Amino acid sequence: MTLENFAQEIKRRRTFAIISHPDAGKTTLTEKLLLYGGALRLAGSVTARKKQRETASDWMEMEKKRGISISSTVLQFDYSGHRMNLLDTPGHKDFSEDTYRVLTAVDGVIMVIDAAKGIESQTRKLFEICRKRGVPLFTFMNKLDRPAKPPLELIDELESVLHLHACPMNWPLGMGDEFRGVYDRQSRQVHLFEHVAGGGAYRAPVSTHGLLDPQVAAMLDENIYKPALEELELLDHAHAEFDAAQVLEGKTSPVYFGSAANNFGVQLLLDGFLAHSSPPRGRTGVNGFVAPEHEKFSAFIFKIQTNMDPLHRDQIAFLRICSGKFERDMNVIQARTGKKFKLSNSHKVFGQDREIVDSAFPGDIIGVVGKEEFKIGDTLTEDPAIQFQELLTFAPECFGYLLNPTPGKHKPFRKGLEHLLAENIVQVFNPDYSAYGPIFGAVGPLQFEVLQYRLQAEYGAESTLERASWQLLRWLETEIHADELERILPYGAKKVTDQLGRIALLFETPWSLSNFLEKNPSVRVSDVPPVVTVAGR
Ligand code: G4P
Repeated sequence: MTLENFAQEIKRRRTFAIISHPDAGKTTLTEKLLLYGGALRLAGSVTARKKQRETASDWMEMEKKRGISISSTVLQFDYSGHRMNLLDTPGHKDFSEDTYRVLTAVDGVIMVIDAAKGIESQTRKLFEICRKRGVPLFTFMNKLDRPAKPPLELIDELESVLHLHACPMNWPLGMGDEFRGVYDRQSRQVHLFEHVAGGGAYRAPVSTHGLLDPQVAAMLDENIYKPALEELELLDHAHAEFDAAQVLEGKTSPVYFGSAANNFGVQLLLDGFLAHSSPPRGRTGVNGFVAPEHEKFSAFIFKIQTNMDPLHRDQIAFLRICSGKFERDMNVIQARTGKKFKLSNSHKVFGQDREIVDSAFPGDIIGVVGKEEFKIGDTLTEDPAIQFQELLTFAPECFGYLLNPTPGKHKPFRKGLEHLLAENIVQVFNPDYSAYGPIFGAVGPLQFEVLQYRLQAEYGAESTLERASWQLLRWLETEIHADELERILPYGAKKVTDQLGRIALLFETPWSLSNFLEKNPSVRVSDVPPVVTVAGR
């Protein structure tokens, strides 16, 4: 392959995720993107998976089919000469670190907002992760076919709640039953949508017109047309400039309005995303920046899934390729240990389906089967100088002890924990000591339930969870003598050690933490762990 072709393969890729609060329309939009991208087979399976989950009586049942983490797979399709890698973020009422980790593997995000509800709690949390990474963020205001908040209020919310500069790329004409179309501010054209029978299974027919076209005025009610003209004039003053560079830095979010269920505005979103999002971006490792065009292969593991095939206790490590070309059977170094591995068992993974992958490029995600030594966060590379330091661990907010109530089942309990902890479903603190055994920490309580459920279902091991009262964890950045730390820690707070030996502090309330920091101004803490690098690198 020539260098030029290699560069072309990188440039045409888009690796992205959709985030939303549950029920805002993430699944529906995913399906519609696949419909517009021509990947009909995939579109069908997204719905089928969702339906399969919905028909079950509760989430435990629904996750029986391994939904909880299996859902973080990749949908790959081609659209308009581009290779799209859409990473599915697990969408649950509750949080898991898996969702956060998926966001470290993408170069762009589409944030779906229910236009009747505005910005909801999960969107806010997920958005914070995106902001930290500075990825381009596109906003889709969904469900305009229902009564919604006024569009100007929605734009204001992005600015006041998320402190995100918003640039409306199009503007809705009407809402609810009166939602007729959008005005595209770039092309200065009105796109009028037409309902079609078939429940959104087909592309929605669109006709385009100039804003002052008498046909448009005739089609729109006076109550819609006049205010829209006024709002558009207002926008031309307040949001006149579209700054593509600001979008690429994640500082301005292009905003699109529509209705995913009716296919309204989906095409404009997809085209806008392609025009203004970023191809695979380089990443900074401990030895500096690694461009995707770097000739040597490098990738990092952002997710591990065990027991995908319940008959064989297998493990799949999901790799995000950062540089170079992947070829099946290639030899790589695991940067953390210096060990060599042959990547022979490489797959594209969608749900239970696997397809062998012979070659892949930066931006692509592949699943590698069966290497127990792989850990989340590992760099695999041909170039010994590369080691990435992606943020893959987040400060937990729920804590507890996991106990084995049946002494006779000690072995499966231990073995199950060992395997499942490789997936980092929960974090472990004080792994080696403490009267009660280790302290487990999770971003959301669902993670504990998943761990307990899987211990039972996959290893036959019962467990009981004793919740602890801590609510916050902060990694310690300042070196303090153990005795001194013991002396200054407030009542109820605790010093712990994580799996990599880093010291962290647990607090019972936000007040306790802020009071501690106020009283000890020289102590620095962080909600992300310090990076551990291999000695000698
Ligand atoms: P999620 O993945 O973010 O959780 O949301 P999902 O797409 O499953 O959508 C949640 C509900 O909102 C679904 O309704 C879906 O049909 C509906 N929805 C999505 N987009 C639109 C839209 O543009 N307009 C309207 N009116 N509704 C929309 P449901 O009743 O839960 O399921 P279904 O039986 O309709 O599939």
